[in-house]
Amino acid sequence: QADVFTYDPGFTSTASCDSTITFIDGDKGELLHRGYPIDQLAEKSHFLEVAYLLLYGELPSADQLEDFESRVTMHTMLHEQMVNFFRGFRRDAHPMAVMVGVVGAMSAFYHDSTDISDPWQREVASIRLIAKMPTIAAWAYKYHIGQPFVYPKNDLDYASNFLRMCFSVPAEEYVVNPILSRAMDRIFTLHADHEQNASTSTVRLASSSGANPFACIAAGVACLWGPAHGGANQACLEMLREIGSVDRIPEFIERAKDKNDPFRLMGFGHRVYKNFDPRAKVMKQSADEVLDLLGVENNPTLQVAKELERIALEDPYFKEKKLYPNVDFYSGIILDAMGFPTSMFTPIFALARTVGWISQWKEMIADPQMKIGRPRQLYVGETARDYVDVEDR
Ligand code: SDX
Repeated sequence: QADVFTYDPGFTSTASCDSTITFIDGDKGELLHRGYPIDQLAEKSHFLEVAYLLLYGELPSADQLEDFESRVTMHTMLHEQMVNFFRGFRRDAHPMAVMVGVVGAMSAFYHDSTDISDPWQREVASIRLIAKMPTIAAWAYKYHIGQPFVYPKNDLDYASNFLRMCFSVPAEEYVVNPILSRAMDRIFTLHADHEQNASTSTVRLASSSGANPFACIAAGVACLWGPAHGGANQACLEMLREIGSVDRIPEFIERAKDKNDPFRLMGFGHRVYKNFDPRAKVMKQSADEVLDLLGVENNPTLQVAKELERIALEDPYFKEKKLYPNVDFYSGIILDAMGFPTSMFTPIFALARTVGWISQWKEMIADPQMKIGRPRQLYVGETARDYVDVEDR
């Protein structure tokens, strides 16, 4: 009951809001970014162009795109003092723990872009976050595996830069395969924004107090980490590995239906989609392409995923509950095939969703009617009563 809100059009809050950025029709399985269907953007556009669309509302001209991409490129490096910040973590810290810490600390390194009342500082903070998240995620990975940090290169595109920062080592340069880079870029696009999901609402609530953008995005990273949300891609691949073979699928399907069993089919179901998540369809095609390229089309995990999807979609329980694969069902298979450990799946989701969080943040703080988010509750506790001394209890 506590999250029962009544929409007050005069009250732009975090509980419910007007937005022009992303539209989802859960029954039709439709997702539009500023009116453009996600499947067209995934096929014809690329992440930084979609980022421009989300941030500014229209697809950019060639000159606008070139200017935007060069501004992002020029901000991909981190303040060198941040190297010491990374080194303060234990090596076995989850990369998401590192991302929450480093992103939250960015206001200490980039204090000339923290004043949200200044449009120039808002713009610089936006560009810095979009530009630096791949470096932060890649460095969290390198630190986790004990390899030296790899610095960004300005002659690489956004996705290629990220892959190289993750997989290059001083002993051997990583040569970016354009098909893998395209697949990585498509994963970023598919995760860019998704209306008022839990982590975006967290960013809006944090932003409504006037907190600096780095602190607000760090709050979004923290919320995304949960296995019911952005942590589901890691949990889904671990589940597929636990299932291990197609003949064990029925056992897990039955567990997912058992109300007394906390087990959920990770990568299945959604708060809004009661049809296929359109992102999952694109992700499934991408999984086939990437695994074919890597010569692992017989990847047992992919076989289990496809058979699990087939069985679940035919099962009366899942049909009745309108449970379909979501964006997290196939993404982990692609990332695993690319060489990422499961601990890097959610950091990649956070990297991509940063542009969505920032777009929603910009929209909200631009609203002159914005007030601090203050969700109400339905109080069902004790009525007023008098204090009882401990000797009388
Ligand atoms: C993301 O909000 C967003 O937009 C999020 C996201 C984004 O881009 O930001 O799309 C990203 O978070 C996708 C979701 C990733 N999470 C998972 O894959 C984890 C597994 N999924 C479940 O935890 C669940 O589906 C949720 C949390 C996603 C949604 O849960 P709900 O709100 O309970 O879903 P529902 O109301 O549609 O469920 C209907 C029924 C319920 O049973 P009853 O209470 O009616 O008896 O189906 C059950 C649920 O218990 N159910 C599942 C299930 N998901 C829902 N049963 C088994 N396996 C599942 N995966």
